[in-house]
Amino acid sequence: MKITVINGTQKKGVTYNLKEAFLEPFRNEAEITEFYLPKDGPGFCTGCTQCFRDNQDLCKDAECVRKIEKAMLEADLLVFTSPAYVFHTTGAMKAMLDHFGYRWMPHRPAKEMFGKRAVIITQCLGAGGKSTAKDIADSLSWWGVSCIKRRSFKLMSEIDWNKIPDKKRNEMTSKLISLARKMKAIDYSRPANTGIIVKMKFFAVRMLQTGLGKDNPEYTDFKYWKANGWLDKTRPWK
Ligand SMILES: Cc1cc2nc3c(=O)[nH]c(=O)nc-3n(C[C@H](O)[C@H](O)[C@H](O)COP(=O)(O)O)c2cc1C
Repeated sequence: MKITVINGTQKKGVTYNLKEAFLEPFRNEAEITEFYLPKDGPGFCTGCTQCFRDNQDLCKDAECVRKIEKAMLEADLLVFTSPAYVFHTTGAMKAMLDHFGYRWMPHRPAKEMFGKRAVIITQCLGAGGKSTAKDIADSLSWWGVSCIKRRSFKLMSEIDWNKIPDKKRNEMTSKLISLARKMKAIDYSRPANTGIIVKMKFFAVRMLQTGLGKDNPEYTDFKYWKANGWLDKTRPWK
């Protein structure tokens, strides 16, 4: 199986060690591709909107975005990690997610995303781990992913991995190992079920695209939806 990991920090701190604990059970059999942000990610979105209006390849960061997207589309399992920075995901992760705004459902979602599984691992000192996970889950859901498992941790005292008491470290890693075992037992030849929330988003956007196409049949997103057959009977899920 293939796993693609997007690390919201390049620091080898708590987030890194929790992610390593999650990946450990997969190490012998999975092909794992990792991106560490910001070093392996795109720069900031400058708001040129060429990806939405015309073609994502016109983005100044297109080469980097294409590389990350290819790894995500080829993966059976997506893993996102982030510490909480002021109650949210890191700026580096946000900068990466902004570049996939054109893949949100109201624009041009990739059909491969609808059958994917994803895991989000976040942690914080005291508060903000859940809102950090939500930042990432919002994008995943609007990309079409339904199967999203979240694990958020609160350290509450020590933030240096090597100084965190063994009991606390074991408590966190054993939760992640248990999730890894569950995710490992999945038959990845079968796509994940598409849930009601993603389906509702799809049908709402389908109505929107139908209207937009009537006003302007040359509209980029409308042409994409039409070419995929989503305005007729075809659906991006199985
Ligand atoms: C810029 C910045 C903002 C932070 N904001 C929060 C926060 O809102 N809530 C919180 O509990 N911890 C916050 N922290 C603490 C980190 O989430 C915490 O130390 C985390 O364990 C760091 O993970 P790392 O070792 O992977 O870098 C912040 C840290 C930084 C550097």
